Amino acid sequence: MNHKLEIDTPTLQAWLENGHSIEVIDIRPRVDYEAWHIPGSLNVDAYRAIYAHSPGPLADYHPQDGKQVVAVCYVGQTSKIAAQYLASRGIEALSLTGGMQAWSLTWNTAEVPLAQSKAEIVQVRRTGKGCLSYLVAADREAVVIDPSVDPQVYLDLAAQRGCSIVKVLDTHIHADHLSRSRALAELSGAAHYLPKQDRAHFRHQALEPGQAIAFGGSQLEAIHTPGHTFESMSFVLDGEALFSGDTLFLDSVGRPDLKASREESEARARALHHTLQNLASMRPDLIILPCHTSQPVPFDQVPLMSPLETVADKVEALRYDQDQFVSWILDRIPANPPNYEKIVQLNEEGVLPALDPTLLEAGGNMCAV
Ligand SMILES: [Fe+2]
Repeated sequence: MNHKLEIDTPTLQAWLENGHSIEVIDIRPRVDYEAWHIPGSLNVDAYRAIYAHSPGPLADYHPQDGKQVVAVCYVGQTSKIAAQYLASRGIEALSLTGGMQAWSLTWNTAEVPLAQSKAEIVQVRRTGKGCLSYLVAADREAVVIDPSVDPQVYLDLAAQRGCSIVKVLDTHIHADHLSRSRALAELSGAAHYLPKQDRAHFRHQALEPGQAIAFGGSQLEAIHTPGHTFESMSFVLDGEALFSGDTLFLDSVGRPDLKASREESEARARALHHTLQNLASMRPDLIILPCHTSQPVPFDQVPLMSPLETVADKVEALRYDQDQFVSWILDRIPANPPNYEKIVQLNEEGVLPALDPTLLEAGGNMCAV
């Protein structure tokens, strides 16, 4: 294989951010493309055909305006064959090294504008997976919420703002990505907070409902928002923004069933209904900042956020009574995230695997209903 036919994920991300003239083709089966893909990519479902030693739909494929092509598959093997085939037809084509598995670690940032708080919020978007985390900086101190990319990313973002990370929080024990909280707290010397629970088997500070988390003249208030998990908390920044974890998303709500029996799922669904009713009664202009998005994150530096009143308009389930809500949610539970039991176990142990974390974390966000 000619190595010049490959492109790595940082280069592809830079090309996409800079508007480089390329066409990204995702050769995986349609169902997997629809579950998660690179923003702007086209699906040319040639995967099975290539396995059968045929170009399949690639035979009739022509990039728009003769653009250079980047082919993407699961781990970057089949896409090499696709790129070779296209090159044999005179089309300039590259294969994404490591495929969607490697892509799952890519990230970008967007600034969240605030009207009253003096704090600055940086939304860190794991573009390849949909995890959203936050660095909140105020007067040389920063707090990180739900870190899901390499801890060094947050250390660099804080340093760029002249801040030290003093506190690291998780909204709950995560099931679809490996928490980087403990590693970040150890690297930065920050205090590590988790909602009070008996699941985490490592040293941390347990947050009580109503507890204030002060930093740099700003304050986060912890509110207990059970439902997605029983320990789930959300954090209100200076009365203006709500870090809603996997409880409330911009167009959906958290799933109540992971690692739960049918009975526990129903109990969590009832708790979630109560939680969501409480959240829905907060000030309508409260900025909602969730921990996940179920759409691939574009390279537009536009933060994923909405005022509560917009979210309440979009999410019809917020208007259901409890029984309606519970049957609605239990009837439409999605598939379990890949490897979630192992991910939960590692997050309860506070351990990051020695091997490539993307092996466990591949696939899009599945925490929403
Ligand atoms: Fe979650």
